[in-house]
Amino acid sequence: MTPDHLIEIADQFGTPTYVYDLDQIKVQYQTFKTAFPWPLLKICYAMKANYNPSVLKAFHKLGAGIDAVSPGDLHMATACGFYVKDIIYTANNITDAEMKEIAETGVLMNIGSLSRLEKYGRTYPGTRVCLRFNPDVVDGAHDKIKTGGDLTKFGILLEDADTAAAVTRRYDLKVTGLHEHTGSGLKKADSILKAMEQIFSVAVPGRFPDLEFLDFGGGFKVAYEPDEPDIDINILGRAVVDRFSGFCDRYGRKLGLWFEPGKYLTANAGTLLVEVNTIKRNRSRIICGTNSGFPQLIRPMFYDAWHTIDNISHPLGSPAVYDVCGNICETGDLFAAGRAIPEIRESDILAIRDAGAYCYAMGGTYNLRPMPAEVVVENGVPRLSRRRMTPQELVESICSESPDMV
Ligand SMILES: Cc1ncc(COP(=O)(O)O)c(C=O)c1O
Repeated sequence: MTPDHLIEIADQFGTPTYVYDLDQIKVQYQTFKTAFPWPLLKICYAMKANYNPSVLKAFHKLGAGIDAVSPGDLHMATACGFYVKDIIYTANNITDAEMKEIAETGVLMNIGSLSRLEKYGRTYPGTRVCLRFNPDVVDGAHDKIKTGGDLTKFGILLEDADTAAAVTRRYDLKVTGLHEHTGSGLKKADSILKAMEQIFSVAVPGRFPDLEFLDFGGGFKVAYEPDEPDIDINILGRAVVDRFSGFCDRYGRKLGLWFEPGKYLTANAGTLLVEVNTIKRNRSRIICGTNSGFPQLIRPMFYDAWHTIDNISHPLGSPAVYDVCGNICETGDLFAAGRAIPEIRESDILAIRDAGAYCYAMGGTYNLRPMPAEVVVENGVPRLSRRRMTPQELVESICSESPDMV
């Protein structure tokens, strides 16, 4: 979207506002699909990345499935049109009550611990299940989003595959899928291929005879920083399909090839529009204060993540170096530190780029500031997808849930 287009959206809907370009999401989806030419390809969008209802409905129209991770995810996905058969539920430290709630919808449960597998088998013998393994491959954009190897809570260990198989036999469970997810923002194509090989090694002859698919999770990177090295998805796709085809020949039948991309599909389709309200000099630094803050886009503070910031009101101004901050009472409330940006003036609109994944979705209302509005653009036309609450509405919603206040 051009700066002029975004300025019009800021004028029409105010700020702070997230803008999601559904046309771009469709391009990402088609690019991903084309890169993995396998007849039984299934793309289960990892809705944790962005659960905006208009975004979910767009994925439903495209024919995607869903990777859900909480009862809320499941309710939201079905409210947006997804059928239970199109959803995989990746269970992570769930309670018995959550297991019951989910299992009784008939959704396929992806189980990542022997303890939960035992409880599941005892309660639902004879049903279908998917098993999540820790691929023992360490990769990802930041330590906090690496999910393979020793320092993670996720997945059954590869060396416990026989024990897992014994549990499934004891309860007559039909293991229809094996799963791994190595991390988010995987830097090396080799990690993706190595993790696949690890799952192939779990499916030794006779151990899991009922497989219908292998699910290799998400983690496909997008370039956030200028000149950041990228992985060629088409070259990767061909290598993946080649290896998968070889595995299927050895296994004895063609299986489904499943992925759960989040970031790859939505990150670069999102922009957070914020307004500058304060420019101040702190000795050597220039502070640029905006009307948003880390609870509305936490990746820089949480993961030291880079988001490009464009001054769309004054793109040709001569650059200066700014600390771009929010309006929250925390020192770490920064979108960027020491960043060169065309001269910023009070009332300018800044576009924080690549904000379509793990931004609004990880948001909160710390300091009792409501979350931004969400606007989607489809066929070039913007429309409101979710309005911004007023502070009064936010407080009323909190008080209405408190018996001490009603
Ligand atoms: C199990 C699982 N699948 C898929 C994803 C999506 O990852 P990404 O958004 O990097 O593609 C995640 C993200 O953490 C995950 O935990």
